Amino acid sequence: MRPKIVVFASGSGSNFEVIVQRTRDGYIPAEVSCLITDRADAGAIKRAMRYGIKAVTINWKPREVGESKALAILEAEKPSLIVLAGFMRILSADFVSKWRWKILNIHPSLLPAFEGTTNAVELSAKKGVRISGCTVHFVDETVDGGPIIAQAAVAIDPDDDIEKIKQKVHALEHKLYPMVIKGILEGKIWFDEKRSRTAFAEGSLKLDDPPIFSISV
Ligand code: GRF
Repeated sequence: MRPKIVVFASGSGSNFEVIVQRTRDGYIPAEVSCLITDRADAGAIKRAMRYGIKAVTINWKPREVGESKALAILEAEKPSLIVLAGFMRILSADFVSKWRWKILNIHPSLLPAFEGTTNAVELSAKKGVRISGCTVHFVDETVDGGPIIAQAAVAIDPDDDIEKIKQKVHALEHKLYPMVIKGILEGKIWFDEKRSRTAFAEGSLKLDDPPIFSISV
């Protein structure tokens, strides 16, 4: 049986869908077994239905109840990886400790820039950043502060509006997230407890698009 991934999403779910596609085309050696969402109107649910993936909506208020329901699902699914893809809730330290180094998140900025905000793209536009991007990191007890796994950068033109920046960042996310998930499931990327940072086997993040990706391992 292929390893399982459980995805958590609150929004449109474009990252969720790309991850599903990349499991279906064999790039990611796993199956997405379940989508967990905290919003009954999340676009991700429709996408899950299209792919025949079970979607569970959990009322996250209060957080303890939401988390205990999610934990029960995870216990049943026993996923190799939990992937947060636009999930708008902060997971408690207790939750994180139960799945330590098995939870990933993606953030639409080059962390630690615009850390801890859900408006990273809007703030980047407001500040006039000229290089934006996205970050995939392990989730720990901090908000957007867990060990960084990979980042991809893209140039922002002074004329780019918020929508344009979102498009550019999303395009990067759709490449970077599957790459990292694959690397972790293949045992080529892991959290090194001794060195307290992410470790990589050689060639684990191969760049297929040098003009966009600025980082190689
Ligand atoms: C992404 O930009 C991600 O970085 C952030 O939420 C957004 C989710 O987008 N955490 P989508 O729902 O996957 O389209």
